[in-house]
Amino acid sequence: MKYLAVAGRQPLISLAEIQALYDKHAKLVGKNLIIFHLENQKPEINRLGGAMKLGELFEGDYKELVKHLNELHPEGKITVGISDFSKQRNAGFAFQKSMEMKRSLGKMGRSVRVITSKEPEIPSATAHHNQLGEKPGCYEILVLDRKLYLSLGTQNITAYTERDQARPARDAKVGMLPPKLAQILINLCGPLPEGARILDPFCGTGVVLQEAAIMGYTPYGTDISERMIEYSKKNLSWLFNEKNSKRFKIKPELILKKDAILDKLAVGDATTFQWEGPIDAVAFESYLGAPMSKPPVDIKFKTEKARCREIVLGFLKNITPLIKSGTPIVMAIPAWLRETGKYARMNVLDEIQEMGYNFEKFQDLSQSDLLYFREGQIVTREIIVIRKR
Ligand SMILES: C[S@@+](CC[C@H](N)C(=O)[O-])C[C@H]1O[C@@H](n2cnc3c(N)ncnc32)[C@H](O)[C@@H]1O
Repeated sequence: MKYLAVAGRQPLISLAEIQALYDKHAKLVGKNLIIFHLENQKPEINRLGGAMKLGELFEGDYKELVKHLNELHPEGKITVGISDFSKQRNAGFAFQKSMEMKRSLGKMGRSVRVITSKEPEIPSATAHHNQLGEKPGCYEILVLDRKLYLSLGTQNITAYTERDQARPARDAKVGMLPPKLAQILINLCGPLPEGARILDPFCGTGVVLQEAAIMGYTPYGTDISERMIEYSKKNLSWLFNEKNSKRFKIKPELILKKDAILDKLAVGDATTFQWEGPIDAVAFESYLGAPMSKPPVDIKFKTEKARCREIVLGFLKNITPLIKSGTPIVMAIPAWLRETGKYARMNVLDEIQEMGYNFEKFQDLSQSDLLYFREGQIVTREIIVIRKR
């Protein structure tokens, strides 16, 4: 089956995420559109950190689609909206096509509400608010090069805000990881068996641990700071409480293991700590160095970089004998904006390779594409995806 993903602000990272999780031949077409294939499984918008919308190819034209929607939702009101992603797109086309669909469905005796937009595409917030592609009877059609994709849903902005801001223990100083990026890091590990145990050795307030649990994996976290381990414990207990485990659909098998998971959260220096197996995957945001409000001068850049390199390489050296061959490690490490306007990286690739790791290959992407940043951010994150040989 063929799918279309509409990527968010970082299309290349979204492409890597989809290649790692669903289809290694996924392709970027246009600025932010990704086409991929997947059999025996439906992609899930809620587990992708980088995609805003997801659609499944409908093998037919508008006329056949009208018939299909009528059969899909035989009773009650139908809500429909069209987003046009074609090269020559314009808002008029989407409006005209949705009105035609309304008329055709009307002739079949159906009552139809059309969601329109001033833009060729329906904004994600509107699509999400109207539950297009999610609630029975509510549809969004994504049009690309005359092909029609039936939406499988839009990124759930409300759920992200809820789990980002409602968590009891937050700490602006450690620079909290956006849940979307935590999902991306986990997905870049590739498909993992259900319940797989994911280690975050720099777990901080526990965003990776939380997202791993929501995806049905078993979180395992350590951090050098006692305070951070307390925070992670508080946040995971909050996630596992009766109300939130329902709200975030935590798997019952995981809730049963809750006490063991909380017990294993430990204070430890990632360069020396001896973790207990099994470790099926490792996903983390490392220590990012001091927060900065302007590009660092040379001496500061050099000391920060040396400190961060020591921690990341020290961690890899420490964990290598403890994990099996084939174990994926995905890390977000710092890169610094310099006065030249370019980001300077940590330059650890050669050392990592020498330690016995292979870099995951992504089609049409190079390592320099895996930079996750917001415009003007001084300390940003480079993503590295490796696997033990
Ligand atoms: C950028 S924060 C990670 C934040 C985390 N992703 C979160 O969700 O809050 C980096 C973390 O690394 C921890 N850290 C720094 N040096 C460490 C070391 N040598 N071993 C383990 N943890 C370390 C810090 O205490 C901090 O919590």
